[in-house]
Amino acid sequence: NSALNDELAKLDPQSATYAADCQALKDEAAATVADLKRVESETHAWIDSNAGKATATVNDVEVIALIDKLEKERCLLKDEFVSLISSRSGDISEHLFEKARNAAKRYYGNHVYIRGLIEFTNYCKNDCWYCGIRKNNAEASRYRLTEDQILQSCETGYGLGFRTFVLQGGEDPFYTDEKIINIVKRIKASYPDCAVTLSIGEKSRESYQAYFDAGADRYLLRHETADPEHYAMLHPGEMSLENRKRCLKDLKEIGYQVGSGFMVGSPFQTAGHIAEDLLYLHELQPHMIGIGPFVPHHCTRFIDFPSGTAELTVFLIGVLRLMFPSALIPSTTALGTIDPKGRELGVFAGANVVMPNLSPVDVRKKYMLYDNKICTGDEAAECRFCMQKRIESIGYEIAVTRGDFVPMNG
Ligand code: 5AD
Ligand code: FES
Repeated sequence: NSALNDELAKLDPQSATYAADCQALKDEAAATVADLKRVESETHAWIDSNAGKATATVNDVEVIALIDKLEKERCLLKDEFVSLISSRSGDISEHLFEKARNAAKRYYGNHVYIRGLIEFTNYCKNDCWYCGIRKNNAEASRYRLTEDQILQSCETGYGLGFRTFVLQGGEDPFYTDEKIINIVKRIKASYPDCAVTLSIGEKSRESYQAYFDAGADRYLLRHETADPEHYAMLHPGEMSLENRKRCLKDLKEIGYQVGSGFMVGSPFQTAGHIAEDLLYLHELQPHMIGIGPFVPHHCTRFIDFPSGTAELTVFLIGVLRLMFPSALIPSTTALGTIDPKGRELGVFAGANVVMPNLSPVDVRKKYMLYDNKICTGDEAAECRFCMQKRIESIGYEIAVTRGDFVPMNG
């Protein structure tokens, strides 16, 4: 009996741990259920608010007039943007694309600029609900490149004709300011004729200033959506549109060439939201504007939402080109992912930048922001020459230069 009692006494603390574990699991499950309920009610609210809503469509003559006005004035009123987006058609898009291509040609001829994209870490402290490398995706297999691996990618890239290196990563605290500064300095020392673009998220103004002083030339930070409520539907509460805008303002004031942009067809997005995005970009006047279709990732709550379309994405590239005739506008990988000819179509609609992947092949599949991302199995050189063929097939030419922003003349 006493042996049994001893055994029971031993088991007692264990069962207490099990009970605590069970409670923790129950709490987690309850939080997930609460989260799902909220998403469900947001979805219903969104469907209700759009049900039967007459889209502000106007006839073709009026849409053409809006495009002509956009070309002349570089902006429209919010309602006019909504009409333009809601009333677009194939013929109208052709009209828009022709004007957009001509605008790009005025500043950049038939040049398309290449940027070597180095995805150096997929660790991230954020939990953006659409993103495959958000911190709470336990299925993501995480990696970080060493400084030497990053420099090695630049060396490969330089040989392939890249004169811009884009260092992109999740918001990874492992890369302290000191480390980033060191990497930027090393790249600039080895390749003084190249531009360095950072795309590493929201930081303090002091950090942005320090990277700039170290030699960084450009910074990419998409605003994602300019509507605060829509922003809150795509991001957890600790992130805010306000801070995003603060970052973009700081970056511009410091003197970076700044890129912003948004996803097309993101969950809950309406034509009104897109109009707000365009108006915000008009206010910001960025040097670069990146847009691409939303594509669902299977480890996110948006798994069952549809992708954005290539059709709307290229239409908006055309609109952006008329708003920003001399901007650098990429035809993005996400666009190439949802349509095999997406990147060519983007250039045809007025884009003038492509960003082939320069990351080491063994990590590429791990930088999965969304499902089915293309180019994840190809060597840097394959991607580079594949892109050249694609660009030349539509009568454009890849330029081996930094491809800096050209200010508008008049
Ligand atoms: N679909 C499309 N684009 C995405 N991004 C992140 N997740 C997705 C997704 N699921 C975009 C964001 C970010 C950029 C680096 O990638 O707009 O700013
Ligand atoms: Fe990467 Fe074609 S551009 S394989």
